[in-house]
This record gives sequence, structure tokens and C-alpha cells, in this order.
Amino acid sequence: MLEVDGIDVYYDDFHVLHSVSLTVGHGEAVGLIGANGHGKSTLLKAVCGLVPVRSGTIRFDGEVVNRLGTPARVRRGIVYVAEERHLFPDMSVLENLLLGAYLPRARKEKVSNLELVFDLYPKLRDRRNQMARTLSGGEAQMLALGRGLMSAARLLAVDEPSFGLAPNLVHDMLGTVRRVNEMGITILLVEQHLAQLGQVISRVYRLEEGEIVGETAMDGARGRKASAASPV
Ligand SMILES: Nc1ncnc2c1ncn2[C@@H]1O[C@H](COP(=O)(O)OP(=O)(O)OP(=O)(O)O)[C@@H](O)[C@H]1O
Ligand SMILES: [Mg+2]
Repeated sequence: MLEVDGIDVYYDDFHVLHSVSLTVGHGEAVGLIGANGHGKSTLLKAVCGLVPVRSGTIRFDGEVVNRLGTPARVRRGIVYVAEERHLFPDMSVLENLLLGAYLPRARKEKVSNLELVFDLYPKLRDRRNQMARTLSGGEAQMLALGRGLMSAARLLAVDEPSFGLAPNLVHDMLGTVRRVNEMGITILLVEQHLAQLGQVISRVYRLEEGEIVGETAMDGARGRKASAASPV
């Protein structure tokens, strides 16, 4: 579904990603790990059209999408759930969710997707009229993921959903990411540590200083297994 082939990304003169390649199959859940500042968010942003790629190719369903803007990629089903969550603080939970469904394809599925989000996160149903700024960290993360689902995502690029959550909530949060994958949505998931990802993903890439330095198949996760895997 997603093929990233030898991409280079710069912030002005600063060369962040060095010939990065990875693939994500239809229905797969793939992880991306690496330390702070090594380029994980930049890679997700490049996939979603939020930072430009200087060389290399990004294909989605076989189509080169490098030069498409973010809205065009969202229309194809590529959706980014930011580490910073980017909620509208003075809007309610429901309004934030509905804003995720602004494109025609998503608008058509608005009612069923809202049911799906509320089934996945019953807390959001209970708190649908509450202002987003008053949510706890865990609830805010649920809302960010829920809004991504409202966009009729086919590939959800999720950036550190466990960031700032207590350890018991991290487990629950990643459990819901797995359920999203089980619903048939393909996942590219960034976390800092492998230990957090075992239950969710089938394969993991490690990024170090902007380069992919390893790829490992995970045991026990659903989805396809990597063919040739070197240790992460
Ligand atoms: N808009 C920007 N302008 C200039 N440099 C940037 C910009 N965004 C990120 N960087 C730099 O690019 C590098 C990679 O950042 P990135 O956010 O991709 O890392 P990360 O792996 O996601 O880190 P973290 O785990 O802390 O979220 C860092 O050195 C960062 O300071
Ligand atoms: Mg990051």
C-alpha cells in the first residue's frame, strides 16, 4: 500500500532523512522506533505531505504522491495523527470529531464512523459535549485518534500515541490502535521503544540519525511477516 523509496528530507540545509526506504502492506501494522530527534516524525510528515521530499519516491496504491499536498493525500486515505494532537481546545469533543469528516468521502460515512469511534472509545461518547481543552491526556489522545478515523483513513500514521500517558494507559491506548488495525485500517506507528509495540505490529523499522538501520518481524502480532529481516 505504501512504498517509501530512498527519500531525502531537509529542513533548509539540515539533512534529516537519508535515503529512507520502507514499505507497509495493505492491512498491515508497522512500527517505527528511534530516539528523540532522529527523524521519526519527519518521516511520517513526509508520507502525509507536511514536509517536502527533496529526492526519492513515495507511492500509495502504486501512485506517486510526492508532489501531492496534504488534502489530496487525505482524500486518498492517508491520515496523520500528530504527536501534539492538534485539537481545537474551545470546541466540544463532538465538534472536533465532526471536523475530521470534512472531505466528501468521509462526510458520506460520517454517521457510521462516529458510531465506530464511540464504540472504540465509549468515554468520548460520554464526554461528547465537553470542551476538548478539559480532557485528560488519555482522553485527548483518544480524541486525536478518533478524529483521524472520522477522516475515513485507510493508512493511519500515528505519532507516539503513548506520549505523556501513564504506563497503564499506554497499554490501553496501544490496544485501541490494534483494534483499529483489526477493523482493516493500515497502521504506521511511531514509538520510542520496542517494548511498547509488541502487541500491535507485525514488523518494526529502526531509525537512527535519519537512516533505517534495521527491520525486524515481530512474533505474535497479526498481519504479514517481513521476508528478510535483520535485527533491529
Ligand atoms: N520544522 C523544523 N525545522 C528545522 N528543524 C526541524 C524541524 N522539525 C524537526 N527538526 C529537526 O529535525 C530532527 C528530527 O526531528 P523529528 O521531529 O523528526 O524527530 P523525532 O524522531 O520525531 O523525535 P521525537 O522522538 O523527539 O519526537 C531534529 O533534530 C529536529 O530538531
Ligand atoms: Mg517525533
